[in-house]
Amino acid sequence: MAAIFPKSSDIILKVAGALLGLGALAGVGAYTYLTYPTVIDTGYQPVQPVPYSHKLHAGQLGLDCYYCHFTVYKAAYAAVPPTQTCMNCHTRVKPTSPRLEQVRQSFATDRPIPWVQIHRLPDYVYFNHSAHVTAGVSCVSCHGRIDQMIEVHQEKPLNMAFCLECHRNPAPNIRPAELVTKLDWVPDRDPAEIGREIIEAKHINPPTNCSGCHR
Ligand code: HEC
Ligand code: HEC
Ligand code: HEC
Ligand code: HEC
Ligand code: HEC
Repeated sequence: MAAIFPKSSDIILKVAGALLGLGALAGVGAYTYLTYPTVIDTGYQPVQPVPYSHKLHAGQLGLDCYYCHFTVYKAAYAAVPPTQTCMNCHTRVKPTSPRLEQVRQSFATDRPIPWVQIHRLPDYVYFNHSAHVTAGVSCVSCHGRIDQMIEVHQEKPLNMAFCLECHRNPAPNIRPAELVTKLDWVPDRDPAEIGREIIEAKHINPPTNCSGCHR
């Protein structure tokens, strides 16, 4: 157990309980017991230090998600962009706007803007962005229509039931990898059929065993 959840003994107790449950219940029943939805953080929307809008930048201006979250297809973490990325434009666009005061301050002092993190999994869950994005799972499947949000909020539960629902049946959520940041993409035929072809070609096989996500 300790090897599976090194960071929290509280969780070890819970898992011990869950595994006892596994013994008592059979197959599908155990899964249902383990995957009841616990919606804790859905809707979480903190106040950010700068009134940055995804609806304006990603929606109206059409900036690609990769322009700012450029680590997302090669690293586990998506990472929020450095201030330099904002200043690529804002040295010239609205250079005196009071709404950008903290961005200019950050740039001048070389101290990062203290963005508040919104989506956060417990430490005992392993997650990797790159594995999902390169397999063709769009940001929209897990974050919703960010390109229509003025302020980002957590739209999906991101709990175990949510993860497993897709891992058991990924086909409807798989698209060509070059379209993962096109949140408004509409497939021209049955999305599950497109997904099944890609799954076969790339041998995609998401883990449903405990150690896949609890390492
Ligand atoms: C590709 C260019 C570009 C980049 C990169 C960019 N912006 Fe902007 N931003 C704009 C444009 C264009 C506007 C709209 C200006 C207008 O309303 O005339 C804008 C508006 C804003 C505003 C509203 C300003 C006001 O006075 O109403 C804020 C705040 C802002 N951006 C923050 C940011 C932050 C923070 C970043 C970096 C994470 C960023 N922007 C990156 C082009 C950019
Ligand atoms: C111009 C830069 C820029 C672009 C383009 C951009 N983002 Fe962001 N993104 C940010 C900044 C800055 C933050 C942190 C502030 C916030 O939460 O609004 C952020 C936060 C986020 C978060 C929340 C992170 C957390 O704390 O959990 C998600 C999810 C996200 N972006 C997804 C997207 C997606 C999907 C796209 C493409 C549709 C996109 N972003 C395009 C700059 C950008
Ligand atoms: C399969 C679900 C899934 C997909 C697909 C996905 N994300 Fe995430 N995202 C998450 C989860 C879960 C977290 C919280 C990660 C954590 O706590 O370690 C997160 C966190 C983030 C963050 C906060 C920084 C970080 O890495 O913790 C940003 C920014 C972000 N995602 C952007 C994106 C963008 C942009 C895309 C598409 C190119 C995308 N995500 C696709 C599930 C997903
Ligand atoms: C919308 C579908 C979808 C959702 C939601 C989703 N996944 Fe995945 N996951 C996949 C696909 C597709 C793969 C890639 C499998 C492959 O390439 O063989 C994957 C792979 C993984 C892997 C193996 C990657 C590796 O590096 O070994 C882990 C771990 C994982 N997902 C964890 C999670 C967690 C935790 C969540 C919930 C927060 C989650 N996933 C939500 C579809 C999804
Ligand atoms: C696809 C990824 C994934 C797989 C596979 C998975 N889990 Fe989880 N598990 C999660 C996530 C994500 C959470 C965090 C849930 C939350 O924050 O609500 C979690 C949480 C838990 C918790 C803590 C629950 C709580 O209420 O605090 C236990 C116990 C657990 N998992 C046991 C298991 C067992 C046993 C298995 C194998 C049958 C398993 N997990 C398989 C993703 C997964």
